Amino acid sequence: MRVLVTGASGRLGRVVLPGLRADGFTVRAASRHRRADAGVEWVAMDLATGEGLVEAVAGVDAVLHLASAPNAGRRTHEVDVLGTRRLAVAAGHAGVGHLVYVSIVGVDRVPLAYYRHKLAAEQVVRSGPVPWSILRATQFPEFLDELLRQASRLGPTLGDRAVLAQPVDAREVAGRLTGMLAAGPSSAIEDFGGPQVLRFDEAVRAWRAARRSRRPFLPVRIPGRLGRALRAGALVTTATPTGTRTWADHLADTYGGTGGK
Ligand SMILES: NC(=O)c1ccc[n+]([C@@H]2O[C@H](COP(=O)([O-])OP(=O)(O)OC[C@H]3O[C@@H](n4cnc5c(N)ncnc54)[C@H](OP(=O)(O)O)[C@@H]3O)[C@@H](O)[C@H]2O)c1
Repeated sequence: MRVLVTGASGRLGRVVLPGLRADGFTVRAASRHRRADAGVEWVAMDLATGEGLVEAVAGVDAVLHLASAPNAGRRTHEVDVLGTRRLAVAAGHAGVGHLVYVSIVGVDRVPLAYYRHKLAAEQVVRSGPVPWSILRATQFPEFLDELLRQASRLGPTLGDRAVLAQPVDAREVAGRLTGMLAAGPSSAIEDFGGPQVLRFDEAVRAWRAARRSRRPFLPVRIPGRLGRALRAGALVTTATPTGTRTWADHLADTYGGTGGK
């Protein structure tokens, strides 16, 4: 099976590519920039303009759509919603048999602009011309790690201690996506999370221990609907199966030691 992977240069894309190849898929990888890599056919395409899209989808059996522009302000709508529509239309014309879209657990519950765009993109996929499957994943541990670094810029680590998170290893998400491609279109939205639901203060405690940091934790309550949704577990899922790699495993890999186990 020949698969086009959008966002192939991103965090998830980089771990998806070797997994797909190991499972016998022929991979075409898309990026806005010209790239080269043994064993993968790279094509240049831009979802914001539609440039290169027709060529990218020509002759593929399935599309794994990972590309996204989360921190791009107005351009997020252009890339994530309109770009997904451009991709779905081009894939429909090319006779592609399956469009797999990666979304985020809680896009329908968390009042954040990015999540509204992801939900709108899901709707584009669901109402588009190509048979589809959607996987909503929870946050990757690298995302949480980066968030904690940002939250520590002023000295202490700031955060709402009661927010719930369920980090999931990107390699395990990649494995799930490969399985969905092999299974064919499900016309269903599936959730996939990590093995543990953590309170933010627990996640911070393990992070500080792994980094041997004496940085204090300064609790800050996130106000309004956003805070209520995050504390009520809008980012976590009870779906099974889950990934197996824990936050502690990520910390041990990244910082050495036991990762706060
Ligand atoms: N990060 C998380 O914790 C998390 C959790 C759950 C779900 N997800 C979802 O998983 C997907 C992948 O996430 P990620 O963390 O791997 O993202 P990432 O590292 O930010 O990568 C985003 C990718 O999108 C591509 N892209 C951006 N603008 C584009 C455009 N105009 N045209 C074509 N491609 C464009 C980039 O490719 P070039 O720069 O090479 O063009 C890049 O490869 C996203 O849909 C995200 O919403 C992420």
